Amino acid sequence: MTFRASVVTLFPEMFPGPLGVSLAGRALAEAVWSLETVALRDFGVGRHRAVDDTPAGGGAGMVLRADVLAGAIDAVSPPGDMRPRLLMSPRGRVLDQALVRELAAGPGAVVVCGRFEGVDERVIEARRLQEVSIGDYVLSGGEPAAIVLLDAVVRLLPGVMGNLASGEEESFAADLLEYPQYTRPQVFEGRSIPTVLISGDHGRIARWRRGQAEKLTAGRRPELLGATPKKAPPEG
Ligand code: ADE
Repeated sequence: MTFRASVVTLFPEMFPGPLGVSLAGRALAEAVWSLETVALRDFGVGRHRAVDDTPAGGGAGMVLRADVLAGAIDAVSPPGDMRPRLLMSPRGRVLDQALVRELAAGPGAVVVCGRFEGVDERVIEARRLQEVSIGDYVLSGGEPAAIVLLDAVVRLLPGVMGNLASGEEESFAADLLEYPQYTRPQVFEGRSIPTVLISGDHGRIARWRRGQAEKLTAGRRPELLGATPKKAPPEG
């Protein structure tokens, strides 16, 4: 079954962009997934096809209109569409591999790209948009975030990655950082490949890699190992 992605955006020319090359691009050409864009401008109002307006209550910037966004969403995702509707937004749940896996296991996604200062809250409620962030920084729009999300999802679709990242490898990679990798030449600027890797002992190699991954994770991202930041015990 083809994974169906629909992207609502003011800038359809940003797509497929990076999703049209490499792994995702090949999968797109092979119809493992499909990508359609909905140009928000086509649903704008008035002679100038306005999509945004000034914020109620005052303040800087512009806000995407609820009616315009709803029109674009309804055109591609009528009631009964089983796909989740996502709104790329720095306010959202931070994207992680668990959410990526969940999306990849589903029928597709409707991905709405925010712009300007924000989106009228009423359309988020009325169309049940799930806000998703790709990290704690602010982009000028949701499009690069949508590309990141779809790239992560598409690589998990059946047949896209071949023998790489098969079940076991993938769950291992999800909670540990990658162990260091080496390839030819044997010596680079006086630095040799760790001898264990040329020992031919697959058990030892696997244990060494696991140890390296754990050490790296403990040093750089202890929270991935379930470590919680030290907190003072409650008083009293
Ligand atoms: N739009 C602007 N910033 C974003 C972010 N960090 N994640 C998702 N969408 C965004």
